Amino acid sequence: MTAKNVPGLTACALCAGETLGDRDPLDGGQRARLDRLAACGVARLTYVDCLDECERGDVVVARPSSRHRAQGVGPVWFERLAGDALTDELERWLADGGPGARPVPTALAAVAIARTGEPEPAPEPHAHHHHEESEDAMSGTMVIDPVCGMSVDPATAAATAEHDGVTYRFCAKGCQKAFLADPAQYV
Ligand code: FES
Repeated sequence: MTAKNVPGLTACALCAGETLGDRDPLDGGQRARLDRLAACGVARLTYVDCLDECERGDVVVARPSSRHRAQGVGPVWFERLAGDALTDELERWLADGGPGARPVPTALAAVAIARTGEPEPAPEPHAHHHHEESEDAMSGTMVIDPVCGMSVDPATAAATAEHDGVTYRFCAKGCQKAFLADPAQYV
């Protein structure tokens, strides 16, 4: 798989591991499992300080690969995704291409959350043309936060960043920070 075809994961750094807490037998807890997924190359992993779903715990977002994103596939949000069994399911799904490549496995669908502000499943007509995307932004169309996959109103975006002449908009400063640390992961 080329980098463009690798799905992404955004995990909440604050609530990762919360579900199992002290009962987690794994040294390093849930973060160690997520780090392992990234280390073996099935997903590009980003931690963000809070994904704004704090009442849930172990909030993780699976982001489609660039190829699937260009086809209009949206991210899938999960809560309480922790422990070996669920993380193994996640690994297999991501290794198969993740969102857009395969339906969400049943075990993961059980912990999926409907996120307000999720992007429409249908592609924007110009979603993959960066130049036109920024024109969309100027006309007030919702754009996608590339880090967490949320729809963002350009007029009220919490933060923006330029990369290769394209303006990206974020729901929160944490997403902007993650983007700036490694923009290539998200474009
Ligand atoms: S603390 Fe994890 S979503 Fe807010």
